[in-house]
Amino acid sequence: MPYKILNNIAVKDTSSVDLTSAKTSLLVITINKDTLKDAAFKALDKASKGFLKNSISSHLKDEGSSLLLPKVNGIEAESIMMVKALNADAPLHKWLGSLKSITKQANKLKAKDISLLLSSSLPEGKDIFWMIENSAKTIESNAYIFTETKNKTVKNPTLKKLVIYGNDFSGANLKKAKDSAKKGFAIGEGVNTAKYLGDLPANHATPKIIEKKVKAMTKDFPNLKVKSFNEKDLAKMGMGSYLSVSKGSDEPPRMMVIEYKGGKTTEKPIALVGKGITFDTGGVSLKPPQGMDEMKWDMCGAATVFGVMSTLARLNAKVNVVGIMACAENMCSAKATKPGDVVTSMSGQTIEILNTDAEGRLVLCDALTYVGKYKPKYVIDMATLTGAVVVALGRHASGVMANDQHLADMIIASGEESGDRAWQLPLWDEHQSCTNTSYADLANIGGGREAGTIHAAAFLSKFTTDYKWAHIDIAATASHSTPVKEGTGRPVPLISELLLSKKL
Ligand code: BES
Ligand code: MN
Ligand code: ZN
Repeated sequence: MPYKILNNIAVKDTSSVDLTSAKTSLLVITINKDTLKDAAFKALDKASKGFLKNSISSHLKDEGSSLLLPKVNGIEAESIMMVKALNADAPLHKWLGSLKSITKQANKLKAKDISLLLSSSLPEGKDIFWMIENSAKTIESNAYIFTETKNKTVKNPTLKKLVIYGNDFSGANLKKAKDSAKKGFAIGEGVNTAKYLGDLPANHATPKIIEKKVKAMTKDFPNLKVKSFNEKDLAKMGMGSYLSVSKGSDEPPRMMVIEYKGGKTTEKPIALVGKGITFDTGGVSLKPPQGMDEMKWDMCGAATVFGVMSTLARLNAKVNVVGIMACAENMCSAKATKPGDVVTSMSGQTIEILNTDAEGRLVLCDALTYVGKYKPKYVIDMATLTGAVVVALGRHASGVMANDQHLADMIIASGEESGDRAWQLPLWDEHQSCTNTSYADLANIGGGREAGTIHAAAFLSKFTTDYKWAHIDIAATASHSTPVKEGTGRPVPLISELLLSKKL
């Protein structure tokens, strides 16, 4: 089931091939001031009788601009795209954006492959291996198109192969370059897996259907172990809070636990917990109709867990990770939880449910209690938890709150490194407003109109006192509605980078 587009990524030294005769759908040449002196470029330009060089001087003036050429006489490639490299101080999102537009162009051309000739230009502080990894990651994840519920005449992506060419890929460098490509490809595959699960309409991705897909993943990756808990199992464990969310739905809940052991057997695992509300109507505290369809992406935390686990398994990463997908559907019906109802969580704390639309924290709190049994080194939960995070941070950063500053710092650093950024919000004792109720230990809302993102995290913090924990609110980053409605696969790049770099 992992969602992979390319089936072949290669890295080659330019000295080992004749690019003029390379059979490729799209040859991409990144151009900078060194390019004109570069042997590979000179050979291509000579074959084109100076056409490439002339085109550069007449058409490629601004950094980041590009020029698409149809078949050029003397060169075998079906089309050529020349891209003027960015300046080193250009922000990372522009570098990644440039790779994204190359891929979108390849999709438009229905290219079967891309041959990418890298220039010596790199973003500040990054090396060629970063560039290779991020090229593979960005091209794989942008080749993705969702087609499953479209008419059968809509074709899947044609892109199947990427060859990255560079000048210094020999000996130890070649091995490192190949590993970087492999890593980027596997992260791109994780991103696509998360995008796919999120993009599926809610009636095509109920908790039971997701369970099936998760179990199917172990066929591709026997190094993943999956356990699944149904309604009865959750009740037996005392998860009254979790079950209060699925109560109004005809779709039974499922909590999936995916174990991956690539590290030392003595090493404690890092735990990932994902909110997996397959559809959030708000329950009896019903949401307004406008844009409610977007609540099919309310399981993107769980989708991230799924994507990251597939990346780790693909790479045989040397870490121990346990991933939890807390899936349920939040509906309103005669059986649904009502505002004011009190339930008992697995932790023993009682919760007055004042707003059934604050349901994410209700499934997460029990999943967070459950994961304590693994004695995890760190716990990170990811959740499309609050609309307030869109107001607080906008669309570009996920919100991080933590009870451990080192963990928060490493999450933010991994966001910077991967171009999948996150930013911290405070989580102080003053934010503990969820204890303001006469009818239970906690209420599931508090703080009124103030800092909704932080108050949600403060509620979760009542269940995470036994370990080092961070919460990432991805409501603004996991999907967007402009320019098109789609899942983004975030924060798979951030979390993969964090786990693979062994920063924790
Ligand atoms: N799933 C929503 C949060 C959300 C909003 C995600 C917009 C993506 C886009 C969550 O379950 C929710 O409804 N949160 C409420 C909390 C409130 C009732 C305290 C919200 O943000 O309004
Ligand atoms: Mn909700
Ligand atoms: Zn929700």
